[in-house]
Amino acid sequence: MADGEESSHLLIVGAGGHARELLWLASRLDSGRGRVRVAIESGWQPPRTVAGITVESLDAIEHDLVDVRYVVAIGDSRARERISSRLESAGARAAALVDPSVQLSDRVRIGSGAVICAGCVLTCDITVGRHVHINCGCLVHHDARIGDYATLSPGVRIAGHVVIGPHALIGIGASIINGREGAPLRIGAGAVVAAGACVTRDVPDGAMVAGVPAVRKR
Ligand SMILES: CC(C)(COP(=O)(O)OP(=O)(O)OC[C@H]1O[C@@H](n2cnc3c(N)ncnc32)[C@H](O)[C@@H]1OP(=O)(O)O)[C@@H](O)C(=O)NCCC(=O)NCCS
Repeated sequence: MADGEESSHLLIVGAGGHARELLWLASRLDSGRGRVRVAIESGWQPPRTVAGITVESLDAIEHDLVDVRYVVAIGDSRARERISSRLESAGARAAALVDPSVQLSDRVRIGSGAVICAGCVLTCDITVGRHVHINCGCLVHHDARIGDYATLSPGVRIAGHVVIGPHALIGIGASIINGREGAPLRIGAGAVVAAGACVTRDVPDGAMVAGVPAVRKR
């Protein structure tokens, strides 16, 4: 877990590919600091184990979450929000997971529940919101603000002075440029940036943009 998070069990919610990736991330952290558990909500057909760990039912364990820190390993940001609200009502606390290979300055603020995967670089004066997922190999430059529950897919590049709204999804390999001091480039809440796009101007809330330079598709 991020520095300063004392010993506790880590609960990974989700049992798909992202959960396996976060298990790998957890194994690369100081592994002596407690057990890792995996759980999913009811209504899904669970695999019995994920990477050798028995999958538990969230319904069965949510009243016994003392000394548990959790992350939600689900790409859908609305599901992340729903599950994190549920767990926090049950008294659980979110962990922030930062892969040991990540390069970041002490001027990066990381919200609870955020995940920053292998090979990312975050420079300075950056805010990463709650339950943000930053997948492998992303570059985030100065004066960036990434809203709660936003998702950066692998290989996203964010130039300086960019504001990303809550629940925005930035697709694999997209670049976001042209923010300026005092006039940051803004990606709206819930907006989608397609894989490989180069965003050069603001994107409204809920819009989808694609291409180089990116244009609005809907
Ligand atoms: C943006 C995205 C979500 C759109 O998916 P969709 O809603 O199914 O949209 P469609 O495939 O119907 O495409 C809508 C339009 O956008 C275009 N488009 C979609 N993705 C595009 C891309 N990456 N680059 C350029 N154009 C793209 C389509 O060609 C289509 O254009 P048209 O209307 O002119 O024919 C999807 O293409 C994408 O890029 N997802 C990112 C996935 C990703 O990075 N996942 C990472 C998981 S870790």
